[in-house]
Amino acid sequence: MKKVLECISHSPEETESFAHKIARKIQSHIAIGLVGEIGSGKTHFVKGIAAGIGLDRALITSPTFTIVNSFLGKFDLYHLDIYRLSSYNELEYIGFNDLIYPTSVIIIEWYDRMEKDIGVDLKIEFTYIDANIRKLLLFVNPTSEHTKLWI
Ligand SMILES: Nc1ncnc2c1ncn2[C@@H]1O[C@H](COP(=O)(O)OP(=O)(O)OP(=O)(O)O)[C@@H](O)[C@H]1O
Ligand SMILES: [Mg+2]
Repeated sequence: MKKVLECISHSPEETESFAHKIARKIQSHIAIGLVGEIGSGKTHFVKGIAAGIGLDRALITSPTFTIVNSFLGKFDLYHLDIYRLSSYNELEYIGFNDLIYPTSVIIIEWYDRMEKDIGVDLKIEFTYIDANIRKLLLFVNPTSEHTKLWI
């Protein structure tokens, strides 16, 4: 993965607006992996992605227990939290492969917990700096067709 952007966020709103800007570039299917400790802002980031693709940000809540929350729209958003999954087989069992189609946006919290690489187009790493401050790093997959949008 190639690092292309860095953002120091000073509030949940700033994290959302960073995500919103990324989402505005989405033109076709994309898979986004989120990496970072508990409370580092992953779910807030998803709110910004939702808003950026025309969905209601208020609908986004943590899918920790449901594993996947689905929202249909111009782009369909699949918000996954795989913290509780232990293997790639489980991901396949919940129908992950069916979520991959031209108008789907897949965003996966704790994407790095899977032993097998899920193969995302973008990765965002969140680091907790202080109560309201987070560092966000955006990486693109150099083999992804989305790379040109960010480099
Ligand atoms: N700059 C910031 N960006 C994002 N969240 C922030 C920021 N500053 C403070 N916060 C707070 O940190 C918390 C982030 O929660 P959020 O659910 O988005 O994290 P998460 O990474 O999804 O956690 P989990 O691993 O439990 O799913 C919220 O309570 C939010 O208000
Ligand atoms: Mg979360």
